[in-house]
Amino acid sequence: MKCLAVFIFFYLLILIFIIEFSFAADSLSSGKFITDGETLVSSFQSFELGFFSPGNSTNRYLGIWYKSSPRTVVWVANRNHPITDKNGVLTFSNNGSLLLLNQEKSAIWSSNSSRTLENPVAHLLDSGNLVLRDNISRSSEEYMWQSFDYPSDTLLPGMKLGWNLKTGFERYLTPWRSADDPTPGEFSLRLDISALPELVIISGSRKEARSGPWNGQQFGGIPRVKNSIFIPKLEHTEDELYFTFRPFNDKVITRLLVNESGTLQRLVWNETSTEWRMLYSWPFDTCDSYAQCGANDNCRISKTPICECLTGFISKSQDDWDSPETRRCVRKPSDCPSGEGFLKLPRMKLPENYWSNKSMNLKECEAECTKNCSCRAYANSDVTGGGSGCLMWFGDLVDLRECSEGYIWGQDFFIRVPSSELVKHLNTKKRLKIIVAVSIISSTFILGLLLCIAWKKAKNKGLENWKVDIEVPLYDLATITTATNHFSEANMIGKGGFGPVYMGKLSTGQEIAVKRLSKNSGQGLEEFMNEVVLIGKLQHRNLVGLLGSCIEEDERMLIYEYMPHKSLDYFIFDRERSKLLPWKKRFSIITGIARGLLYLHQDSKLQVIHRDLKASNILLDINLNPKISDFGLARIFGGDDEEAQTERVAGTHGYMSPEYANDGTISMKSDVFSLGVLLVEIVSGKMNRGFRHPGHRHNLIGHAWLLWNDGRALELMDICLEDSFVESQVLRCIQVGLLCVQKLPEDRPDMSSVVFLLANDGVTLPQPRQPGFFTERGFTVGALSSHEKCHSENALSITIQEGR
Ligand SMILES: *[C@@H]1O[C@H](CO)[C@@H](O)[C@H](O)[C@H]1NC(C)=O
Ligand SMILES: *[C@@H]1O[C@H](CO)[C@@H](O)[C@H](O)[C@H]1NC(C)=O
Ligand SMILES: *[C@@H]1O[C@H](CO)[C@@H](O)[C@H](O)[C@H]1NC(C)=O
Ligand SMILES: *[C@@H]1O[C@H](CO)[C@@H](O)[C@H](O)[C@H]1NC(C)=O
Ligand SMILES: *[C@@H]1O[C@H](CO)[C@@H](O)[C@H](O)[C@H]1NC(C)=O
Ligand SMILES: *[C@@H]1O[C@H](CO)[C@@H](O)[C@H](O)[C@H]1NC(C)=O
Ligand SMILES: *[C@@H]1O[C@H](CO)[C@@H](O)[C@H](O)[C@H]1NC(C)=O
Ligand SMILES: *[C@@H]1O[C@H](CO)[C@@H](O)[C@H](O)[C@H]1NC(C)=O
Repeated sequence: MKCLAVFIFFYLLILIFIIEFSFAADSLSSGKFITDGETLVSSFQSFELGFFSPGNSTNRYLGIWYKSSPRTVVWVANRNHPITDKNGVLTFSNNGSLLLLNQEKSAIWSSNSSRTLENPVAHLLDSGNLVLRDNISRSSEEYMWQSFDYPSDTLLPGMKLGWNLKTGFERYLTPWRSADDPTPGEFSLRLDISALPELVIISGSRKEARSGPWNGQQFGGIPRVKNSIFIPKLEHTEDELYFTFRPFNDKVITRLLVNESGTLQRLVWNETSTEWRMLYSWPFDTCDSYAQCGANDNCRISKTPICECLTGFISKSQDDWDSPETRRCVRKPSDCPSGEGFLKLPRMKLPENYWSNKSMNLKECEAECTKNCSCRAYANSDVTGGGSGCLMWFGDLVDLRECSEGYIWGQDFFIRVPSSELVKHLNTKKRLKIIVAVSIISSTFILGLLLCIAWKKAKNKGLENWKVDIEVPLYDLATITTATNHFSEANMIGKGGFGPVYMGKLSTGQEIAVKRLSKNSGQGLEEFMNEVVLIGKLQHRNLVGLLGSCIEEDERMLIYEYMPHKSLDYFIFDRERSKLLPWKKRFSIITGIARGLLYLHQDSKLQVIHRDLKASNILLDINLNPKISDFGLARIFGGDDEEAQTERVAGTHGYMSPEYANDGTISMKSDVFSLGVLLVEIVSGKMNRGFRHPGHRHNLIGHAWLLWNDGRALELMDICLEDSFVESQVLRCIQVGLLCVQKLPEDRPDMSSVVFLLANDGVTLPQPRQPGFFTERGFTVGALSSHEKCHSENALSITIQEGR
């Protein structure tokens, strides 16, 4: 009895094994076949091949799907020829091709091997690829045919989208017609290689969308995904040119799909929720539609109307100038090349029809484009590692758009504009050139002169400290000593981050402020050098002007224009003096600071992050115009970096963004945060940090947000502005301020938006989200650097004295 039970058990086990083996094999060999109901399963159970009915249809198709449920079909063999019953059979033909037969045993689909196979084997691989090869040449991995060469609507990792350059064979995706019908729809996703490779979505013969050229890392107009999900790749060999991708690691399951409406979707399998999550789709918005705006017309999804002529072009039309059909962007007249320059538009999808040269760099590109008056624009062809290659546009600029907020894509695009426009845009490349040229000529002259004098005067005075690349004039110690009356106590006007500040008067009568590095402090030297090197290269009317420096013996000094009105905090936080700044003045101070910061971030050659923007670092000149000062902590940023990590968190509490204070992550957006705090402080006349309120324990920003949500934002305003304020401007400043201090850096506007939003009364602003540090007090933040410490005890009292 027992023996029988054991026998039956083993018999069943063997039976199950046989069934498993016969039905779940991963290959089909010559003479065998698969009928409807049987399947092949890849060796690691990733994919399954068999017959299926899509959606509500009763038609049968041969397909490959993920073994995991719910069934997701990735490839269909007989897309155009459904089998109407369950009698389909997959087998081999005489010549060794795969053959799909219907009930009448007539072939409705066959694989397309290039030669006859003696002993064919079809193998379903774990990549989802069904391959056909000859069992004789076992060792050879040569496939006679593979399903990866005939994609349906899905691109799996390792699949190629593109061209065999030798034979002209193209692999591309076509969507299903509907969820019930895998027949190829009207759309197709292809790799256009007529110029630099780019993805296009075609419907019939019409181009629906183009991705922008491959820029070495991605297609310019398709969002970049920060998370580690997949790695896109463009392969260019002698024989082939194609796009492909691979998952970031083995755990990630991801695919690209073109859905029925011709939209590309990047999908990732979520094991926990057992569903496909969409990372992004493309085309995403109206601006992605091919040539949505006309020629030389920029598409910006956040604006209304979304189309706006590029700088240097004006809208022309016969009748109603608003009608898009009759509207056309035509060039403003200007003299070429003398009256023109180039304006940088950041984060753009590049337009089509360009000329390219991979061996030129951006400088050569600009030079080449400048020479030829019909060259309208230029850009790098490859953005990898700071950029290389050259693209130039000679005709109308068609199908360009701006990257939408919250996404990362696009690249710098330089367009030719009349000089007058450059001046307007502050990005006075040309003017900058003149200024730089003049300052270089004058400073080399002065430097030469000083060198001569210094050389004569003192061969014993070491010159080995002249190591830094200094672009500012040098003053000699004797001049400065005389000007400051031997650094007398009476001339001392403040104490900065790294030493005392003296007021002085040159023999010419010019008043100067001298910032002197304390000799015994090793600390400030780095900041000092940073400031000398950096600020010497920056010129803007809202940045403090460095007149020169003095580096002699062991003295290190910076010489600035003297600012009789000291700094902003001296006014706005003082009950009496705040009356000297009526609303109109405050508003112009606000816009001035914003412009200065925009220059630092985007328009200067260097791209600088200030890192220590605060009221005491805003100096006021004789006309109370704001000048951003103190570049001791400023950082130069590479063009493509979005953010960076810093080991030393230095700055001032109350102005530091949460991601910087907590993680040391700096980006342009951390300056934007500080600016937001500053805006609210200027409007309210109160300090963020020392703010107290009887009703709650939030800081000023938190208070502002509470009032804003209550619709009582105007109560935030400094009472002394009551006679002078313009309600719409005050509210706008508060709203922009709150947008700038939003918790997430990606939610905050960039400086060009800030300047635009402040200047344009008609534009509707988004509603701000919760600000950073919106917790009631009683928390501590990580270690502070010494720089911070010396400001932090009493930022107010230190900086009041620091006027220059
Ligand atoms: C390949 O051929 C050998 C003998 O020629 C046979 O034993 C083997 O099973 C075949 N392999 C497949 C996958 O059909
Ligand atoms: C199948 O039919 C049902 C009922 O008509 C419908 O609700 C469902 O959406 C259909 N499914 C597909 C994939 O078309
Ligand atoms: C089969 O190959 C021939 C020639 O190589 C080609 O013209 C034809 O389009 C191919 N058919 C399919 C379905 O790939
Ligand atoms: C192999 O057979 C199939 C179906 O009979 C046919 O379509 C195909 O052209 C043949 N191929 C070769 C290389 O003979
Ligand atoms: C295709 O994908 C887009 C983007 O996800 C979506 O909006 C659209 O509804 C999808 N179309 C269909 C037919 O599912
Ligand atoms: C997967 O889904 C679960 C449940 O919906 C969710 O909590 C989790 O965040 C998802 N994982 C990813 C990587 O999106
Ligand atoms: C590309 O630029 C390089 C360097 O300026 C030049 O030598 C080369 O001839 C250019 N190639 C083409 C195709 O114009
Ligand atoms: C400018 O470039 C265009 C297009 O490449 C060319 O046809 C034309 O000859 C060039 N003009 C000059 C002056 O080089």
